[in-house]
Amino acid sequence: MSRVPFLDLSRQSSRLKEEVLRAIGNVIDDNAFSSGPYVESFEREFASYLGAKHVVAVNSGTSALHLIMRALNIGPGDEVIIPSWTFIATAWAPVYVGAKPVFADIDPETWQIDPEDVERKITDRTRAIIGVHIYGQVFDVDRLGEIARRRGIYLVEDAAQSHGALWKGKKTGTHGVAGAFSFYPTKNLGSMGEGGAVSTDDGEMASRIRMLRNHASPRRYEHVDVGYNMRMTGFQGAVLSIKLRYLDAWNNRRREIARMYREGIRSPFVEFQKEYPGSAGVYHIFAVRVRDRMRDGLREHLSRRGIGTGIYYPIPVHLQKPFREMGWREGDLPETERLSGEILALPMFPEMTDEEVKRVIDAVNDFEG
Ligand SMILES: Cc1ncc(COP(=O)(O)O)c(C=O)c1O
Repeated sequence: MSRVPFLDLSRQSSRLKEEVLRAIGNVIDDNAFSSGPYVESFEREFASYLGAKHVVAVNSGTSALHLIMRALNIGPGDEVIIPSWTFIATAWAPVYVGAKPVFADIDPETWQIDPEDVERKITDRTRAIIGVHIYGQVFDVDRLGEIARRRGIYLVEDAAQSHGALWKGKKTGTHGVAGAFSFYPTKNLGSMGEGGAVSTDDGEMASRIRMLRNHASPRRYEHVDVGYNMRMTGFQGAVLSIKLRYLDAWNNRRREIARMYREGIRSPFVEFQKEYPGSAGVYHIFAVRVRDRMRDGLREHLSRRGIGTGIYYPIPVHLQKPFREMGWREGDLPETERLSGEILALPMFPEMTDEEVKRVIDAVNDFEG
């Protein structure tokens, strides 16, 4: 029997190949290789899609987060609260600017940053919270927004996994002072290379980020700050404009697959991620919690049935070497640490067939422990 891959990007790429080759041909004809009109068009289209006043395209999600820290003038002596249940790039952002990352635990049911733990960890040095919409589901935007306002600190959204997800009808990336997006190829909206973007309604912030991404250069060969080369390439701008047109359809298919999993999987070992009322996630990853130390057994069972799975994330960020060296230890974030031993991601990509989804469901239901 054929395998059910964890992710098969080639099904999407091959369908778009002709369209993409034409667009790339235009970029070549126009010599628009770095920044330029194709990137600017994508910025306008993505801003309009999000309902944000400004989008600044950059070369990765990691750069987007870094530039947001710079634009907020966060630096040495400052603290930034982040979840440890995320991809490591969220935690690099404060570190890159010399600030201290302070990890908050997650809610055991939604697996999102726990507002109560955030509140406990705020000190008079805290300048910002970076919430992460983990797996494309949405964190409690209202509560984190309220905490940020009351304590006079910034709320930044790491929306690298949540392109198109909604909180009360409004897209993620538009709720805080700024949002960071990644267009890594496997993301819901992926480039064919690397890419990222910052969304914001604050015009001054957008201009500052635009300048910083291009060597802090308002005019050619004049540099007014320490800047970077974090520009997006023209090819990626052109590819992203094409893919953006399909994003809602892809997200709807992801939701349909998630609904099939939620309705079809009946296993005493499996628990699903809960969603906050008022949110509509986009299932970048469909992960389940596998109880009773059965995670590795279920993974093995699925692998024997030819079904690919993934573990996001086997080592929580606070227990990675650079953060251990800052003093973080086992036991600091009990819910995060427990989940990392129990999490298992099932195949999830819009081009999966119903038959493949059904095979995954049947295989999970057949697992006896
Ligand atoms: C939550 C999160 N934040 C940040 C990033 C960093 O994005 P990039 O890989 O584009 O630098 C990613 C993805 O890779 C991510 O999943």
